[in-house]
Amino acid sequence: MSQFGSEGEDIIGRWSEEKLELLTKYLKAYSDIMNKQKQKWLKAYYYIDAFAGSVQPKAKDEERYVDGSPLRALRTQPGFDGYWFIDVSQQRIERLERLREEFNYNSIRIRQGDCNEILRNEVIPQITRNSKQRAIVFLDPYGLQVEWETVKALANTRTFDIFVNFSLMGVTRLLRRDSPPERTVREQLNKVMGNTDWIDQIYQPPTYSQLNLFEEQQPSLSRDTLGTEWLASLYTEHLRELFPYVSRPVIMTNSTNAAIYALCLASHNQTAVKITNDIFKRYEKLGS
Ligand SMILES: C[S@@+](CC[C@H](N)C(=O)[O-])C[C@H]1O[C@@H](n2cnc3c(N)ncnc32)[C@H](O)[C@@H]1O
Repeated sequence: MSQFGSEGEDIIGRWSEEKLELLTKYLKAYSDIMNKQKQKWLKAYYYIDAFAGSVQPKAKDEERYVDGSPLRALRTQPGFDGYWFIDVSQQRIERLERLREEFNYNSIRIRQGDCNEILRNEVIPQITRNSKQRAIVFLDPYGLQVEWETVKALANTRTFDIFVNFSLMGVTRLLRRDSPPERTVREQLNKVMGNTDWIDQIYQPPTYSQLNLFEEQQPSLSRDTLGTEWLASLYTEHLRELFPYVSRPVIMTNSTNAAIYALCLASHNQTAVKITNDIFKRYEKLGS
């Protein structure tokens, strides 16, 4: 559940700070790679924050503010050629507008509204492959707001890479243990995952051999045994149908150790994915 401070800013836990650290590391690597390409063929590269947020969220239970994703991008060196910050909230847009005074006004574009529409109708048509421009899009929703159609549209351009924070909890919360989801829930999941075959798989009744108590075997996949790691892999497998290179997912857990999000990179660049996997591996080693 999201919590807000007195100025309407997000109150974030340890895992969100870790997510921001991973983003920072990745943006630095992306910018280094792209900056080298600019000496060869690339004209410009951009950072697009589709869920830009409250700029400086507050750390939970502490009198401390943390730099949110737009600040992380603006402070990345070498700098991007331009930045798009999108958010649905008027209050957050006002806060984002103030960044223009602090940083270069001309390179920052701010849009209020649903990012799916803004990305598909405004951003994607402007950054075409022929224009020799590239961009990284950070997709960091609270829940299930990233539509598969948007991911597909971004992938089809072959100019956008995406760094996605996929809400595992958003999905598991919709899947009841006692009965398969109704049509509206299926539609909701289809909108986000682009496919619902996997739902039939997890709600299948057990087969005869699974009911045979004398046979010891691994339980097959079911709603009861559905692991968040499996779900995270399912999402990245779907991403592989759209992007040539996809990192493995890193699972982000909250203070009670529940898996809440899976962070991953889907890219057109093999090196970017290799670097991301290395960043994720180092992060996981620290936690073990
Ligand atoms: C998890 S917060 C983003 C945090 C930010 N990326 C960071 O790391 O500092 C999610 C943000 O998405 C915004 N939001 C929710 N639905 C949206 C939508 N459909 N399109 C764009 N922004 C949306 C919310 O107002 C909120 O600011």
